[in-house]
Formats: sequence, structure tokens, C-alpha cells
Amino acid sequence: MIHHTPVLLNESIENLITDKSGSYFEGTIGFGGHTELILSNLDADAKFIGTDKDLNAYEHCKNKFRDDKRVELYNAGFTSIIDISKIEFIDKFDGIFADLGVSSFQLDNKDSGFTFREDVQLDLRMDKSKGEPASFFLNKISENELTDIFFKYGEERNSKKIAQAICTYRLKNRIKTSGELKGIIEEFTPERFLNKTLSRIFQALRIFVNNELDELEEFLEKAVSVLNKNGKLVIITFHSLEDRIVKNFFKEKTKTCICPPEYPVCVCETIPELRIVTKKPIEPSVEEIKQNKRSRSAKLRVAEKL
Ligand SMILES: C[S@@+](CC[C@H](N)C(=O)[O-])C[C@H]1O[C@@H](n2cnc3c(N)ncnc32)[C@H](O)[C@@H]1O
Repeated sequence: MIHHTPVLLNESIENLITDKSGSYFEGTIGFGGHTELILSNLDADAKFIGTDKDLNAYEHCKNKFRDDKRVELYNAGFTSIIDISKIEFIDKFDGIFADLGVSSFQLDNKDSGFTFREDVQLDLRMDKSKGEPASFFLNKISENELTDIFFKYGEERNSKKIAQAICTYRLKNRIKTSGELKGIIEEFTPERFLNKTLSRIFQALRIFVNNELDELEEFLEKAVSVLNKNGKLVIITFHSLEDRIVKNFFKEKTKTCICPPEYPVCVCETIPELRIVTKKPIEPSVEEIKQNKRSRSAKLRVAEKL
């Protein structure tokens, strides 16, 4: 059974590895596609730390790499990077990698509660042991908050209309499944726009439920603080909200001055922390997109620690 086809595989690993005997952190091991190639490019004395919030992914990788002494895996969020580096007695990593979002397994597996293609419990949490499922929020939060979530995280033009329809529906019924949410949206969405609208709404709820954008910002900040000089930070994003965060973060960390523009001379003495390696993001080739449609929105950005 194919769990996930890794995207931009060679491009990620070529950029990530600077020292074959170094220490590496992968925040989103998923089903180990990137992990496998990273490990095959590292020497026997290297160290590899991986995390994934999703229990299925963690257990799959735990089994897959069980005989590899270089590997330590954690069923944890990537924002634990500093705590984990301390547990592992790693002062600095030579490369840090994240392939954001969800795996094909999470999207396609009914029990993961991510899909709108089948009627499943509407959950959308990567770590099912923490927080509340998406259905909890859909039944609880105000129309204005729902509108904001759909607009901010899904860039959905009909956010207000959809939030209103949800609030009307829930006066009579509790929303429990993806099928119910789909049914509400289907009522007033033309067939040809339905899949795109559902993708945006499910994306918005997923980002909200998992606090994905705040966690990404926290991760990037922490990652830079535990990256070795000349070490690489390699990030794959799948939508514009994530990509913007990575792009702006990299830009911010290259600055030599952050004084307000009205200051006549620089007083901040800011020391840049990163050099941007990819002026433009690396995107999948036509061939890769043909073979794996889900890769089409991927963007890979790389920065080097100064
Ligand atoms: C696109 S998949 C990674 C696939 C992987 N590169 C492979 O080749 O199999 C993204 C993975 O990141 C995990 N994930 C997302 N956000 C996370 C976070 N904040 N911390 C840890 N894992 C996270 C998801 O559970 C999912 O397994």
C-alpha cells in the first residue's frame, strides 16, 4: 500500500546535506520517503532526529527504521525541536527539513478524518490526543469567527455565506461528519466549483484546528536557533499562506538593519542570521506533476545559516 509519494525528493536532499557525518532534524517524517533518502546519503556516524504529530506516521517510521542506529523518532510536533535536541545532547543541527501539510495517507484514510470524499467523522487533527476535533468548533464558535477562519485560512470568497449556512443548520442538528458539512456547502455551490470550495473550507478548518501557521512561525524561529553555521533550513510548502510565512521569515533573517526608516543612522546593529539560497522557490517538474498530481502546489525554499 502506498502511503505517500514524497515530493521534490532529490531537490530537498541535495540542498539539505552539507556534512555526511552531521546531525539532521526532519520535522515531518510522514511515511519516511524523504527520511529514507536522507539516511542513504549520510555516513554511519551521522545522527538523524525525526518528528511527526500523527501516530500512524510515527509508528510506520518507527518500524521502517527500527534497525538504523542513527535514527531517533518522536511522536511530537516539530515545535519541540529545542527540547528534543537537549534530550538527544545535540547542540546544533547541520540541516533541518520540513515537508508541511498532510500526507496522502491522512487524506485518503477514512479513520484519519481528513477527507470530504467520504462521509467520515469530521476531525482534521494530526494529533488526535490533543485539542478538539473540527466538528467541535463548527458547532461551537460564532458565525463571525467561522467567516474569519474560512476567509483567512481558506481564502474563500463565500466565507460569510458558508458560515451563515453552517449556523442555520446547527440550530437543528449537531454537525458530526464531513458528509454533513459537504451537504451544507453543496446546497448553494455550483457543481463545477464544489471540489475547489470544499478543498478551501477543509484546508481552512485543518489549519485552524492544528494551529498550523502559528506553529510554523514558532518552528522556523526555533530551527534557526539550533542550526549550525553553514547548515541548511529546507522547507516545502503546499499553499500560499505557508509559503508567504517561510519567504518573509527568510527575508527578515537576512536583514542587516531593522531600525525604523525615520532613523538617520542605524543603531540596531542587527546581525543577519540567514542567507537565502533559493531566490525563487524550487517547484516540481512537469514530469513530477504528471506522476504525482498532489505535488503541483509544492514550493521548496532553502536558507543557509550564517
Ligand atoms: C506531507 S507529509 C510528509 C511526508 C513525508 N515527507 C514522506 O515522504 O512520507 C506531512 C507530515 O507532517 C506531519 N505534520 C504536520 N504538521 C506537523 C507538526 N507541526 N509537527 C509534526 N508533524 C507535523 C503530518 O502529520 C504529516 O505526516
